[in-house]
Amino acid sequence: MSVEEIGGARVPGATHRTAFDDETRARLSADAAVIKARYPQERSALLPLLHLVQSEDGYVSPRGIAFCAAELGLTTAEVSAVATFYTQYKRHPNGDYTVGVCTNTLCAVMGGDAIWEELSDHLGVGHDETTEDGAITLERIECNAACDYAPVVMVNWEFFDNQTPDSARDVVEALRAGTPVAPTRGADHVCTFKEMSRVLAGFSDGRADEGVGAGPATLRGLELARQEGWTAPPFTDEERTRAAEQARTPARGTPRAAAPAAAAGERPASAAEPTPAGTPAPGAEQSSAERPPVSEGDVSAEQEQRKQSSDDAKES
Ligand code: FES
Repeated sequence: MSVEEIGGARVPGATHRTAFDDETRARLSADAAVIKARYPQERSALLPLLHLVQSEDGYVSPRGIAFCAAELGLTTAEVSAVATFYTQYKRHPNGDYTVGVCTNTLCAVMGGDAIWEELSDHLGVGHDETTEDGAITLERIECNAACDYAPVVMVNWEFFDNQTPDSARDVVEALRAGTPVAPTRGADHVCTFKEMSRVLAGFSDGRADEGVGAGPATLRGLELARQEGWTAPPFTDEERTRAAEQARTPARGTPRAAAPAAAAGERPASAAEPTPAGTPAPGAEQSSAERPPVSEGDVSAEQEQRKQSSDDAKES
């Protein structure tokens, strides 16, 4: 159950405003350390950390935001800014299963709109709304690059191909009944939103090789090309020359003197030279968490840390 339970009863609208208990926080911190170690700069770990929070709370909870901020030396405002940008991060308790109906052009004309109307009527919820039992969150979703199997429905990002209103209704009823449900391709059965979120955080569930990968419709073009001996045309000399020139051209804003060394993958000599306050040398660390304040209104890393600690305490 993704919705917070208090005393065994579901409390609609309840949120996780209290901090994680010590045991949970220690466990999540250990996981966060594994994730952070994968990145040269810790703040780059924010996206998987938000998934980690969702694997615990079923959404990006206020205490989850505070946790990410504390782990990465960010403010809670910075974490919220990222969490509200991407639709995969939920700002309210999500159902155990996100059922996404593709209503982009091809799926829509192939029946996606009819599937959406059937599921919305049947479940009694609209876009990004969750059924009363906390089982299903229904969403309209954009193209999943599975147009060869349109119309497509996704359950926690597993494919259900060539759906009809009736077959999609059967899927959601089986999910609500707790029956294991197998997608058309991919894993042997769909996992819960929390389980999926842990995988997205970077912790394998060992199921990546289950089931069918690319199906016949997806591979049809490849088969035809092999039968007919079709291959992609090779690059022309002009295209190779242009690509080499582009590789040598400094990116906008990069000092020209730094370009040859950067293109060769070397640290430019100028990296060690003094630069104006707050301006990172080419090739140097560029995390704003490490830069000194450059103006009166600017916030130093130390101030950000104090602000984040204060926010964290308030969330507790
Ligand atoms: S339009 Fe639905 S998967 Fe592409």
